[in-house]
Amino acid sequence: MLQTKQIKENVYAFKAINYNDLSFHGPVITTEEGSCYNAYLIIDEQITLIDTVDEKFSDEFIRRIKKVIGNKKIDNIILNHLEYDHSSSYEYIKTFYPEAKTYCSSKSDKVIAKIFSKNYDYIFVEDLSEISIGKYTLKFILTPFIHWPDNMMTYLIEEKILFSNDAFGSLIAQNKFFDYEYDLHELIKSSKIYYANILTGCNNLVSKKLKEIADIEFDYVCPSHGVIWHKNINDILTSYINWSNCLDVKNKIVIIYDTVWGTTETMAQEMATNLGEKGFEVRIFVASKHNPSMIMTELLDAKAILIGSSNLNNAMVSTVADILERIYGLKLKGKVGMAFGAYGWSGVHLKRINARLEEANIRTIHPDVYTNFNVDDGMVKFIEQVSDQLAEELNKL
Ligand code: FEO
Repeated sequence: MLQTKQIKENVYAFKAINYNDLSFHGPVITTEEGSCYNAYLIIDEQITLIDTVDEKFSDEFIRRIKKVIGNKKIDNIILNHLEYDHSSSYEYIKTFYPEAKTYCSSKSDKVIAKIFSKNYDYIFVEDLSEISIGKYTLKFILTPFIHWPDNMMTYLIEEKILFSNDAFGSLIAQNKFFDYEYDLHELIKSSKIYYANILTGCNNLVSKKLKEIADIEFDYVCPSHGVIWHKNINDILTSYINWSNCLDVKNKIVIIYDTVWGTTETMAQEMATNLGEKGFEVRIFVASKHNPSMIMTELLDAKAILIGSSNLNNAMVSTVADILERIYGLKLKGKVGMAFGAYGWSGVHLKRINARLEEANIRTIHPDVYTNFNVDDGMVKFIEQVSDQLAEELNKL
């Protein structure tokens, strides 16, 4: 479905919801409700479309646009980001409005020819440059590498509306448009899952950009995913400041494991019990069973990440490798890591886990937390000691 909402007298939002698509940005995030794409239309002397939606909605999109503007033409199309969820219906829209000028970031000039089938006449804009579209002025705020080089935001100065594209997005895929129509706690939770999986790897850049835009007033913040922020703008801005600067780290440990015959699971449970009794919040996830997007979100405010795996063919279980690859992409900072696991004939897989953690910039401790076949009394004692050492280490942070 694709629904239209008038946000202000001259500004419209289009919300396309694909209830059937429970994966978002390819296989990266699993959603519970579906996927949602927003685009916006500004009516002025020049009519301006900001972003497009996934190509599955091309027909519905053009029908809804025409319902708003009738036979008038779109004069400008602003592509805040070239990733396909925002750009894949651009060429279809362009067939209806071939004269429309297309604006995109100067950082996109190297890749744009690979995205679209024709070489359209693009206008590449620089950071903080402006265009007049009549009584309104649009300012472009480039946000390179948050999360692609070409990302930018567009600010409608006179109405104080920020069209933020991927930034400030959420995984809400419901037909209500505005933040105040939802439970704020649920909304921030959804935004956090989105942030953890899409933007954590850009923490430094997000933090810097937030400082740069700190003095700008916003009446509306309009992302291209999820809800439009209006009454709770400070909440999402504060959350972004906290997440990007790792300010909300808790006394929390995340244990992620997978097990072939249950011994690694027993180790995970022993460690969880010990650490829980020492006052830590402990979250346990089975790599093959729990949603990886949720696991990544739980890492944001954790002090330590414990990764457990059985040895399978002299390697870690592949579901654990998937988790480690995701962790690597997040570029987490200031976390402590520890590998653990069971083996039958060789414990070499722990070396691989520790190496992957180190590659992911996670400081590892205690490289030899492995057991042969089972968890006997001696191993229970050893896990207690290891838990003590880990707790001591984390309490210093
Ligand atoms: Fe929603 Fe980076 O695309």
